[in-house]
Amino acid sequence: MKSYKIALLAGDGIGPEIMQEAVKILKLIEQRQGVKLELLPAAFGASAYFECGDPFPDETKAICDSADAILKGTIGLSHEESQKIPVDKQPERGALLPLRRRYNTYANFRPVFLPKGLAHFSPLKPEIIGEGIDLVMVRELVGGLYFGEKQVGVNEQGLRYVKEMLEYDEQQISRILHEAFKLAMSRKRVLHNIHKSNVLKSSVLWNEVLDEVSKEYPEVEVKHLLVDAAATLLCLNPGQFDVMVMENMFGDILSDQGGGILGSLGLMPSACLGDEQAYYEPSHGSAPDIAGKNIANPYSMIGSVAMMLEHSLDMPNEAKNLWSAMQGVFTDGYSTPDLSKPGGNVTMINTDEFGDKVAEKLSAMPV
Ligand code: NAD
Ligand code: IPM
Ligand code: MN
Repeated sequence: MKSYKIALLAGDGIGPEIMQEAVKILKLIEQRQGVKLELLPAAFGASAYFECGDPFPDETKAICDSADAILKGTIGLSHEESQKIPVDKQPERGALLPLRRRYNTYANFRPVFLPKGLAHFSPLKPEIIGEGIDLVMVRELVGGLYFGEKQVGVNEQGLRYVKEMLEYDEQQISRILHEAFKLAMSRKRVLHNIHKSNVLKSSVLWNEVLDEVSKEYPEVEVKHLLVDAAATLLCLNPGQFDVMVMENMFGDILSDQGGGILGSLGLMPSACLGDEQAYYEPSHGSAPDIAGKNIANPYSMIGSVAMMLEHSLDMPNEAKNLWSAMQGVFTDGYSTPDLSKPGGNVTMINTDEFGDKVAEKLSAMPV
């Protein structure tokens, strides 16, 4: 029997609630596929810091090192609660960025998907949604401002100052571009390159490398778009996009906008791939405003499981089944409160009920 080890980093806020639904689905898949999924929960994030003083404890590192894939919930606290943790131990700087660095997960795929039939979830008008939204943001995840050199101090005029470097080398740029071109080849063969070369030298180098890499993919049409304009066009005409590629910080911001045009961040799963290891997480945060209420949308978490099935566990068909099971819950008229508007035609269900319904749909599908 095939066996896989999966590290489970539930994290903070809604993390444990949505992770529970992911586990429900993993246990079902284990039965359906006749594989052994060894689930290894490990402390991570602010909760780990309060337990043992370290948001990414050594024991968690060891579990992740030994795992075939890592499934992560969400980390982080409200702004006020965060202040109780020293800046460098806060879970973003102390756990999440070190996780990305440790496994060099440079390729972050964030699908933004809403079929025409679910246009009512979106704040955009149905005529703007048209035939639906179906694009993937490919975000560079281990470079740029996030990981550049940082200096904090007092300057010669006695003023506190900060300096953060936006660093990329050509290899870091070309490897993410290859990922984006390969994805574009498997889809509509159109790649939107999102940049800011009218101001940033990093974008000038990015575009130079893109011109070189694009020669290897002559069938892919490249469309250049400045990041600010891209933000507007995502609202005005999202249907024009298929694959979009961008550096780390642009991808952080535009992918949350992706959640916005769908109607909720709860619809945003993601895959973070490195050459040796991968981890999977919702694109959103720990949603402190709704944590503990059993109302978070677990689609982003279960969708991350689907991406893990495809990319790390060699079960692409089961991944497809899982996507259709999740979509099926929506098309049956159910959703968590983030997507059900007052007066709308949607029956509101809780986090665990959503997970149950996905499981029910999946169980009914042929393996
Ligand atoms: P957030 O993404 O947690 O929440 C933004 C809004 O979206 C909130 O109103 C929240 O209720 C809603 N939302 C998010 N996910 C949802 C879901 N699954 N279902 C229903 N509604 C959902 O952003 P924030 O409030 O700015 O950040 C909270 C904390 O999360 C911060 O500490 C931040 O650093 C952290 N964060 C972590 C990650 C991560 O773990 N990868 C990502 C982003 C933010
Ligand atoms: C995300 C998050 C992270 C990021 C934070 C929590 C460090 O917002 O995954 O989008 O900025 O990358
Ligand atoms: Mn973000």
